[in-house]
Amino acid sequence: ASQINPDDKSVQVSIGFLWAVFVVVTTVVTTLFGGKKGITSFFEKKDHSKLPDVAKAVDVQHDFVSTKSGMKFEYVHAGEADKPLMLCMHGFPECWYSWRYLIEKFRDRYHIVAFHSRGYGNSDKPKEINKYHMNYLVNDVAEIIEALGYPRATLVAHDWGGAIAWEVPKYFPHLVDKVIIMNAPNTTAARYYRKGIGFSQFLKSWYICLYQMPYLPELLVQSKDFGLLGSAFNGKKMGIKNKSNKLTREEIDVYKHYIGNNISGPLNYYRA
Ligand SMILES: *[C@@H]1O[C@H](CO)[C@@H](O)[C@H](O)[C@H]1NC(C)=O
Ligand SMILES: *[C@@H]1O[C@H](CO)[C@@H](O)[C@H](O)[C@H]1NC(C)=O
Ligand SMILES: *[C@@H]1O[C@H](CO)[C@@H](O)[C@H](O)[C@H]1NC(C)=O
Repeated sequence: ASQINPDDKSVQVSIGFLWAVFVVVTTVVTTLFGGKKGITSFFEKKDHSKLPDVAKAVDVQHDFVSTKSGMKFEYVHAGEADKPLMLCMHGFPECWYSWRYLIEKFRDRYHIVAFHSRGYGNSDKPKEINKYHMNYLVNDVAEIIEALGYPRATLVAHDWGGAIAWEVPKYFPHLVDKVIIMNAPNTTAARYYRKGIGFSQFLKSWYICLYQMPYLPELLVQSKDFGLLGSAFNGKKMGIKNKSNKLTREEIDVYKHYIGNNISGPLNYYRA
């Protein structure tokens, strides 16, 4: 009999899809057998159209910037315009609010800007999946730096923002002072080493397969009033470990507010 090598990428991808289907099916089944309450809670969706007060209380200015390609991006900013630019790039499925502490820390020394990348918050949301390809995401950053009127910027980036930030200096070295990246691998190096990734890393990354499926990820991420956000920040497995740093319900609602319009754009990052 032939052996399955879990390090083989094609095997990993098919196992990933099978696992993803399994997760979707068990979620749906437990919901259905959870009776009426289970079903209503699965489809529960609250109104998140108002920005919660905790976010309004943060001392930042809200604005929009239009780029050369005709895209419009929502951002918040603090500090004086004649200071060097620090550009904060959020991850999935986040927003400027993730940068609130950093903004306080650096507002004296920088003009610190946190923008919503395409598909997020009130930034433009192209309909086509291929408009979320890395080439567009990298180009957006370059155009935002230019549109804000700066010769260059320091990039501070997390998760998906980090994946993008690794690429920016490759194509636009003259626009970048420094790059500070949290929780995202050097994409070139990752591609090179991916052949050798172990099964345990694969088990942590299977969701990437899930997110590439059509429709189902939207259904899952939106279920239980975007329950994923609560478990991502505060859950036992994925969430913040230090109890005193967990987010309040209102803080999580800030993320729901910005994601609430349409989760398809952010998910398209995984599909493009
Ligand atoms: C959400 O965005 C996708 C494209 O990213 C679009 O096809 C879809 O119609 C949008 N849905 C809503 C409810 O606006
Ligand atoms: C990313 O990794 C590649 C391949 O190992 C390397 O050549 C490149 O210098 C790295 N990028 C940065 C910014 O360190
Ligand atoms: C948890 O967070 C609090 C507040 O930020 C901090 O004072 C404390 O040292 C942290 N505990 C651990 C174990 O890191």
